[in-house]
Amino acid sequence: MSERVHIVEVGPRDGLQNEKTPISVADRIAFVEALIGAGLRAVEVGAFVSPKAIPQMVGSAEVLQGVSHHRDCELPVLVPNEKGYEASQAAGAKLIAVFAAASESFSRANINCSIAESIERFKPVLARAKADGVRVRGYISTVLGCPYEGEIRPQAVVDVAKVLWDLGCYEISLGDTIGVGTPLKARQLLRAVAGHVPMANLAMHFHDTYGQALANLYAGMEEGCRVIDSAAGGLGGCPYAPGATGNVATEDVVYMLEGMGVPTGVDMAKLVAATNVVSGLIGRPPVSRVASALNAKNAAGNA
Ligand code: HMG
Ligand code: MG
Repeated sequence: MSERVHIVEVGPRDGLQNEKTPISVADRIAFVEALIGAGLRAVEVGAFVSPKAIPQMVGSAEVLQGVSHHRDCELPVLVPNEKGYEASQAAGAKLIAVFAAASESFSRANINCSIAESIERFKPVLARAKADGVRVRGYISTVLGCPYEGEIRPQAVVDVAKVLWDLGCYEISLGDTIGVGTPLKARQLLRAVAGHVPMANLAMHFHDTYGQALANLYAGMEEGCRVIDSAAGGLGGCPYAPGATGNVATEDVVYMLEGMGVPTGVDMAKLVAATNVVSGLIGRPPVSRVASALNAKNAAGNA
């Protein structure tokens, strides 16, 4: 496998949205800069959501404005409704992401409405984005399991994916929000969704709660999926998914891809350095196995 893979780094958003320690806008900008400096070309920088729901994402406008001189990079931000859209446009966002769920209970917990209502909220956002020349990514959460409802039928994911695609999302990112998926299920899901949305327009957004994310990504790549969401250091989780841990770590994804002969353009040493700075700020070591291994190796080398 030597085709390129598109990595969407979500650490500054998905990673930091669940951290208890507040991270300043200046530190968030420095984190994004370090990730771009490491070679990542798509970095999700924040979210225009309710400050009561997710206080960690307050200041996303300043973060976006602080890094938007990187015109060669995709800098997506989350937008749940028209209010968020307006704030994103005031901050100059060129790429936004709406986020739906495959389970009713998760939709209610996360964005306080049913799946159908969330689609109604997205319709004017997508219409305005189209008129404004803003690209829209569509997330679907709980695609391989829900913290409240358990098993999720692939058809439930397909139904939401079709709607988001028909509304004009250019890419559908499939979120295993609580990291319960296994490779066979990930493969079956991708096949089912790819029957309605081209595989080239699907992304894998797998959290690593049960340690299956890399295996799931590999299975998805065998199915032809070439877009991977990941977070530096394996940061994060979802405030509305009790017990869920972070996204698959970008270091681990990069290590796997390079080992498969898939070039990533990412400088691992710089990426681990970016992760280490944030780990210092939040006060715990990276979850990434590769970052931990390289840190231990460097510490031994310096001893
Ligand atoms: P609501 O309470 O139903 O909304 O929340 P509302 O329209 O009734 O407004 C209530 C208050 O929120 C009002 O303020 C609004 O002005 C304000 P008040 O009058 O009470 O002072 N408000 C906003 N403020 C700022 N920006 C906005 C906005 N909209 C309303 N855009 C809402 C609905 C969606 C806003 C809320 O539930 C919310 O913000 N939820 C955040 C959910 C979130 O960010 N979750 C984490 C990201 S999703 C995720 O992590 C999954 C993903 O990674 C994929 C995966 O892993 O599965 C993407
Ligand atoms: Mg997520």
